[in-house]
Amino acid sequence: MGFDPDDISSNRSGNPPFQKVLANRFSRRDMLRGGTIAATGFLVSGMVNGNAGARPTPGRPSPLLGFTAVPPSDADAVVVPDGYSADVLIRWGQPLRSDGPAWKKDASNTAEEAAEQIGSHHDGMHFFPLGKGKEANRHGLLVLNHEYIDRTLLYTDGDEEMTREKVDKALASHGVSIVEIELVDGEWQAVDSECNRKVTPTTPVELSGPVPADHPELQARDPQPRGTINNCSHGVTPWNTYLTCEENFNAYFGTTDGSWEPTPEQDRYGINAAGFDYRWYEVDPRFDVATNPKELNRFGWVVEIDPFDPGHTPVKRTALGRVKHEGAVTTESRGRVVVYTGDDQDGDYIYKFVGSGPWKAVRARGESPLDHGTLYVARFDDDGSGEWLPLVFDEGPLTADNGWEDQADVLLRTREAADAVGATPMDRPEWIAVQPSSNDVFCSLTNGELGEGDASPRDPNPYGHIIKWREKDGHNTATTFTWDIFVLAGDPAYDDEVELDEDGIFGSPDGLWFDPDGRLWIQTDVSNSVQNDPEEGYDNIANNAMLAADPSTGEIRRFLTGPRGAEITGVITTPDQKTMFINVQHPGESTAAIGEPTPEDPRAVSNWPDFDSGGRARSATVVIRKDDGGVIGT
Ligand code: FEO
Ligand code: CA
Ligand code: CA
Ligand code: CA
Repeated sequence: MGFDPDDISSNRSGNPPFQKVLANRFSRRDMLRGGTIAATGFLVSGMVNGNAGARPTPGRPSPLLGFTAVPPSDADAVVVPDGYSADVLIRWGQPLRSDGPAWKKDASNTAEEAAEQIGSHHDGMHFFPLGKGKEANRHGLLVLNHEYIDRTLLYTDGDEEMTREKVDKALASHGVSIVEIELVDGEWQAVDSECNRKVTPTTPVELSGPVPADHPELQARDPQPRGTINNCSHGVTPWNTYLTCEENFNAYFGTTDGSWEPTPEQDRYGINAAGFDYRWYEVDPRFDVATNPKELNRFGWVVEIDPFDPGHTPVKRTALGRVKHEGAVTTESRGRVVVYTGDDQDGDYIYKFVGSGPWKAVRARGESPLDHGTLYVARFDDDGSGEWLPLVFDEGPLTADNGWEDQADVLLRTREAADAVGATPMDRPEWIAVQPSSNDVFCSLTNGELGEGDASPRDPNPYGHIIKWREKDGHNTATTFTWDIFVLAGDPAYDDEVELDEDGIFGSPDGLWFDPDGRLWIQTDVSNSVQNDPEEGYDNIANNAMLAADPSTGEIRRFLTGPRGAEITGVITTPDQKTMFINVQHPGESTAAIGEPTPEDPRAVSNWPDFDSGGRARSATVVIRKDDGGVIGT
């Protein structure tokens, strides 16, 4: 895709965007006079945290980061620091079981074969240990999302025409894979297991909470709701299930009916006649928005999967709202479950779900803690405070007089409800991470063009930033917070507000994860429309990367660089932190500064990881270990 559809805003609420809030808080002149926003941010962070020493100290070695930074790279390779190894574990197209159909490097695997193989475009991921003690560090279930497909790499003939077989192959390549993995003779391997399975866009699913499957707005062509799609990031519940998130579900719908026009509700979710050019609607009426519009309402949810139960039917938890969920980061506060989610589109919002009672008690009565609670959306104020605004029917503007029917209506139209209560439009909220020591919450705002006026700290914001907030009294259930900027991403060669050195320059932060020691892992997803491009100020930053930050010193150090055309995403370690799993997504995708793959030359941008002269680039999970067996990052 030559552009990022999430970059196009569908928010016409007129709510003051975050860049304006930010501009009012830190005027550009103040930043240029008094240092950078990053420095200012750390000072204020120190104040918020009651920890006045939190300003970064150049040259002071971080006690958390022990590795030597890798330089920016434009190589078609995964590069990790000296003393570390990186090995490919789970490739797109490898069979889910050892007796499954073999990968065909010329893309000639059928849809039926693809259904028995690992999906494409690996994204959010979690390692669920199997066994206790040492066993938990060498054996587990790896659950990984498959966000989308690359039609040039998926099909032998690219995108010339759309057929039923092609749609079926694409459907089988989306969703979620569950794979048992084990450390055997010193090497991580996928092993056969009754748990190995896939949840795809055609798997039967349930819907639970205020918008159940029998809700009138969900009565689509197929009586059975099916599947999950565009699974981006994820979450893990305190009761050890996996949450997979539906992001750009609108991309898959469209119509050839020239008279069709989106309703305001559909328009707010970015539904249009072309979709994002997947053209599935040409051969599959399920995805025709003119004739099957209620199918749309079955998507945009957070979906719970029990990876340990091969017979478990995935459940869409509607109380968490219907948006383009990037992730669903879960924490526990005062016995309740709290779920943070970013709605990744330019000008959309950050949400939080708070369970209505102690989650253990809710489960003890046989119900889901994700079905009972309050969904909030964030408003960021320019004095550094913020408020969580409840999205509850009959509260505030969400009344019958204003056209709201009930809580199901509020959740089906979550974006409009958030518009109505005055949420703050953000620069594309991606992953969210909760700091273990403080419960502070960090969110990647990957990039955006929301700002207006000269006072904006960066308008447009092509490199993004990471925001952090502290909930009142450190309780994630609180309804007010204080916020700050953790770091402004970018390259000082192009933007002198950026305070990152060569070891730390990056752009478009996306994946975020705190390891148990408190290292903040930052993964980047610079769009292929600008990646490596000097015209866009992205040549020094080069390929996408993963960095580690020490939030207490502010130091950020590059740990890994990825192959060409790829983003780096999905990050988790074994409990002992001695094995890390990350995902390389969309290597070889058309990249403006490098090239454009074709069916004749699918290797024009990348041939990672197989480097087979007759093959093609494949998304893959990578295992990272330290040669001395130590903790990753030390
Ligand atoms: Fe799927 Fe917003 O990244
Ligand atoms: Ca992402
Ligand atoms: Ca992406
Ligand atoms: Ca992204």
